[in-house]
Amino acid sequence: VRSVQVNLGDRSYPIHVKSGLMKQAASILSDQNRGQKWIIVSQYNLMEFFGFDLIAQLKDADFDIDFVTLPVGEVAKSMNEFSRVISQMIELNCDRQTTILALGGGVVGDVAGFVASSIMRGIEYYQIPTTLLAMVDSSIGGKTGINIAEGKNLVGSIYQPKGVLIDPDILESLPKKEIISGLGEVIKYGAIWDRNFLNEISSWLENIDSFPFEEAIAKSCEIKAEVVSRDEREGDLRRILNFGHTIGHALESHLGYGKIRHGEAVALGMKCAGFISQKLELLQTEDLLLLSDTIDRLPMPEIPHINGNHLMSFIKTDKKTEKGILNFVVLEELGKATTSTLVTEELIQESLKVLN
Ligand SMILES: NC(=O)c1ccc[n+]([C@@H]2O[C@H](COP(=O)([O-])OP(=O)(O)OC[C@H]3O[C@@H](n4cnc5c(N)ncnc54)[C@H](O)[C@@H]3O)[C@@H](O)[C@H]2O)c1
Ligand SMILES: [Zn+2]
Repeated sequence: VRSVQVNLGDRSYPIHVKSGLMKQAASILSDQNRGQKWIIVSQYNLMEFFGFDLIAQLKDADFDIDFVTLPVGEVAKSMNEFSRVISQMIELNCDRQTTILALGGGVVGDVAGFVASSIMRGIEYYQIPTTLLAMVDSSIGGKTGINIAEGKNLVGSIYQPKGVLIDPDILESLPKKEIISGLGEVIKYGAIWDRNFLNEISSWLENIDSFPFEEAIAKSCEIKAEVVSRDEREGDLRRILNFGHTIGHALESHLGYGKIRHGEAVALGMKCAGFISQKLELLQTEDLLLLSDTIDRLPMPEIPHINGNHLMSFIKTDKKTEKGILNFVVLEELGKATTSTLVTEELIQESLKVLN
């Protein structure tokens, strides 16, 4: 088992990455079993894929285990579902000792983590991510939350799990589109932190079918863990994780949710941000080419022509603006990211041409 540590003092925790890890879940968790109630928070389809096997395994090892499910999709990240999960847990006699296992993608992880942070003023939880996006991104770093009518992720907390269990074998049942989306975030880690890793990803993408997920996930986790360990609450460093996201989020809103996956939008956003970085005379042309070529190796959905003014309206409401000034993540070189306040609206509009 490869273990990556998130170092946050007494809130430190390990991320375990290994093919076949799910089968060892009981032995990994057993020293945390003090006879308390354990609750799997998941979705019904995922319970059928792996959840019921996990329950059987944990019961065999004398865990007192139950489960609650969320609906599929962003609708699960709502006040209603949040309070329903809490009520169900109380009905199941959960108390301060209860431990949650968040089994699912980012949606499950965000809601289950937020429930863990607030029920009984906070109980322990583990992340068991099942999408590539959740394995390399949302399960690490403790950001939890739900959506309200006024916007996405507007209610939540930073609340770290006790551990993260990642079994890349679980990706076998994940639809290809979701894999591609997760690969967008994997490319991001190479771009912002490790040029060598980006080179490797680029050559791995020549044949997606033999992509070494375990290795790529472990490396991505190492990078996210390092960034979070140095900057838990999004000061300047953690912001670099938003590389490609300013334009990416705007593309998601502009095209409408469901038309493009998050990681796909981020991949396109990184192409634009790369172009901008080069225009600001930070990124060398050959580096921009490697980044763009790597992104172009991902099969992408057809996107319609982008209306620059409409897209800008979403960028202006981006949470990353402070007092009206946009903090845009740029690359100084491949493997080194920073934020810039020099990115103008004109430059963003010009960068959109790399999309068509
Ligand atoms: N907390 C963070 O730091 C953070 C970071 C990035 C994204 N997010 C959040 O993550 C969410 C998106 O997460 P996501 O992309 O994982 O989507 P998701 O959780 O909606 O999962 C996508 C779909 O795949 C299904 N699925 C999951 N694992 C499967 C598997 N192994 N086999 C078959 N089907 C499977 C799910 O049931 C779901 O229908 C967004 O709400 C976003 O805001 C949070
Ligand atoms: Zn992202």
